[in-house]
Amino acid sequence: MSAPSNNTAAELRAKFAAALCEGHSSEWPAAFADVPREHFVPVFLRQDERGRWIEVSAADPGYLETVYADTALTTQLDEHGVPTSSSSEPGLMLAMLDALDAQVGDTVYELGTGTGYNAALLASRLGSDSVVSVDVDPELVRLARERLAQCRLHPFTFTGDGAEGYPARAPYSRVIATAGLQCIPPPLLSQVREGAVIVAPVGFGVARVVVRDHGEATGRFLPTPAFFMPRRTTGRSPDFAGLEVQPVERTAVPAQDVLDRLKFPLSLALPGYHSCSWRDDEGDLTGVGLWVDDGSTATAHVGGKVRQIGPRRLWDTVEELASIFPKGTPAREDFRLAITPDSQRAWYRVPDGPSWTLL
Ligand SMILES: C[S@@+](CC[C@H](N)C(=O)[O-])C[C@H]1O[C@@H](n2cnc3c(N)ncnc32)[C@H](O)[C@@H]1O
Repeated sequence: MSAPSNNTAAELRAKFAAALCEGHSSEWPAAFADVPREHFVPVFLRQDERGRWIEVSAADPGYLETVYADTALTTQLDEHGVPTSSSSEPGLMLAMLDALDAQVGDTVYELGTGTGYNAALLASRLGSDSVVSVDVDPELVRLARERLAQCRLHPFTFTGDGAEGYPARAPYSRVIATAGLQCIPPPLLSQVREGAVIVAPVGFGVARVVVRDHGEATGRFLPTPAFFMPRRTTGRSPDFAGLEVQPVERTAVPAQDVLDRLKFPLSLALPGYHSCSWRDDEGDLTGVGLWVDDGSTATAHVGGKVRQIGPRRLWDTVEELASIFPKGTPAREDFRLAITPDSQRAWYRVPDGPSWTLL
């Protein structure tokens, strides 16, 4: 790999790759040791204690150490200061690459080029001709392509909605998504070979499915949590004003459950939901808000008061989940996926147990 780097970076990178892959067998240590992450993230953004975003670049102390830590690096914000692109946490990238089980000869489609770092890892191990990578943001694609080329890597990159796939280069034998999805995009299922492996964040988990005949696929979630920035779409804002005139209901489900132990099943039951929380001056939780793209909104106060508005009664879904999972956090790997060309369903433990329709 020839790319701008220096001795310190090379030493840090070697240690980082060794630490990342320590304790388990993986085909990816050489790629992590080879591809200079700093080259793909020359600048990242971190939040200070007051929540303000600050740019960090090579000139700043600790820059290289952070680049070679197991941490996600935010690289782009929207006009409201919400992150829209990042270089994902390397440990999670490795877990996803391991799950992808790609071998030389496989053709890989990546949804979410971002910085180009993951595309570089893929191209460095599998060869540039075997990798297709798409991002919805043309500027990100331009920068990634430029940086990849400086590393003498030339995967095919293009701008578009990654959920549509790229039929001209199909069929693919592996698909990896690095933007949060609500289900496996059906066009991708029809652009892969039989036996293809798809690894993608679905809700707040990472799904791994194997595609059988005629767009049917089955699989399960990896144990690892994943909070990827969602695939960019448009949706309605929460209706907090409308909630104020709704009748108050009562709940026995702690508001906190929505933020931790029920978070993953909720992401399957309410695909693409958004949430927020309110805290007092001491930082203690006072309430949570939930909404989905059709504008349905619910809030729950820690004291048990609930208000709901819109076509879907979101807190009712929380209540249902709390009755299925009365205690503890359900393990992600106990959730499976059953996919046909027209439907996608996640189920818990047994096929006729609790299940949620994703498509
Ligand atoms: C976590 S970042 C990807 C990280 C990237 N793989 C890397 O190594 O830097 C998620 C990316 O998904 C992109 N994205 C969001 N919606 C998309 C869509 N509909 N199609 C393609 N890319 C999308 C975002 O622009 C963002 O760059």
